[in-house]
Amino acid sequence: MKVLVVGGGGREHAIIKKIKENKDVSVIYALPGNGGMADDAVCVDIGATDIDGIVDFAVNNGIDYAVVAPDDPLVLGCVDRLNEKGIPCFGPEAKAAIIEGSKVFSKNLMKKYGIPTAAYEVFSDMEKALAYIESAPIPTVIKADGLALGKGVIITQTRDEAKQAVISMMQDKKFGKSGENIVIEEFLTGPEVSVLAFTDGKTVKPMISSMDHKRAGDNDTGLNTGGMGTVAPNPYYTPDVAAECMEKIFTPTIKAMNAEGRTFKGCLYFGLMITPAGPKVIEYNCRFGDPETQVVLPLLESDLLTIMQAVTNGTLEQTEVKFSSKNACCVIMASEGYPVSYKKGFEMNIPAEIKDSVYVAGAKLDGDKLLTNGGRVLGATAVADTLEQAIREAYGLVEKISFENAYYRRDIGAKALAAGRK
Ligand code: AMP
Ligand code: GLY
Repeated sequence: MKVLVVGGGGREHAIIKKIKENKDVSVIYALPGNGGMADDAVCVDIGATDIDGIVDFAVNNGIDYAVVAPDDPLVLGCVDRLNEKGIPCFGPEAKAAIIEGSKVFSKNLMKKYGIPTAAYEVFSDMEKALAYIESAPIPTVIKADGLALGKGVIITQTRDEAKQAVISMMQDKKFGKSGENIVIEEFLTGPEVSVLAFTDGKTVKPMISSMDHKRAGDNDTGLNTGGMGTVAPNPYYTPDVAAECMEKIFTPTIKAMNAEGRTFKGCLYFGLMITPAGPKVIEYNCRFGDPETQVVLPLLESDLLTIMQAVTNGTLEQTEVKFSSKNACCVIMASEGYPVSYKKGFEMNIPAEIKDSVYVAGAKLDGDKLLTNGGRVLGATAVADTLEQAIREAYGLVEKISFENAYYRRDIGAKALAAGRK
């Protein structure tokens, strides 16, 4: 089988390594991939949002199955276009990817179907938004409607800050068209849990839970990033919480999307907050999380490609999705200065004996040298019997990897470890 994976980060590298375990796979193409995954996939320089280029490539190269991993091509209808050419895909159609593509859509969906989430108001008029803030509870959360590289959420501690956030989105167009409509929502508190779930629109099978570390600095300080590290499972996701999520969030979401004529097939990511009033949805993503995937898939014992095909074919119910009872920790090594500005082009040294545990996110080949080429450069994942061991071993991997300007958080998993001991 010839498999194509759209995307080029650490998440895609984790997906590719797992798909490679299937004996029927003869070749995996990554579009665009990155130089750090050249041992695992044939990287082709076609961008993840070049939908015409992706479709042409798939048709011309006899692709048997495609996995569209990032949000933008999904929202742009990459799966719809590949399906039109008869190529089966993993990932939702555009009309379902809107669950991530528009926060206004997802908030209204949750309100309509009684799915627990933060209270909110939607605004398309800046003056009305500013007037609302005068009496809104503080802190307040301001969200741009559309995709904004994970940066379209601003948590404000004062009314002035809230107004500035509204002005930056609606007047200064900081996030372009994504900020034409905004959501102003209630600030929730509680630990966060990421749950990725396979669904074929009928059955939903959650994967092992995980915890992201979104802030750039230790102890959750500094700017929000795409994610600086993850652990799985997440100790806050107890069996009771899981049962409540299935009943009040996961199943109702799948049903709601069906009722709207937007059946979701693929990986649905539930960003949850376990509030004192129970679990609530902070966000939906229409795809695997990054770097959640880098701890979730290493714990998957069933065959990933088989599950993906079952999602496509609508046979997920009969398909086993089994996870190991071990723990995983992924530490992201970034370029110093990420997520603002950083230098790249430094030679990377990843010892051959640990390559299986490394998911490369931002690198390029220069002859036989691998050079850094992004903010998040790679993730090092360790799997072990205990979380403590997994954390220690992940940092052990990080110590063996070197490149100039490397930056990583020292406390990935610390909060989970403390919670697990309670
Ligand atoms: P999002 O991009 O929607 O995941 O938001 C980014 C981060 O902002 C989340 O991971 C939360 O830490 C935080 N956040 C988003 N919405 C809320 C909320 N209503 N209350 C508290 N924190 C939030
Ligand atoms: N790690 C968060 C995300 O993938 O959106």
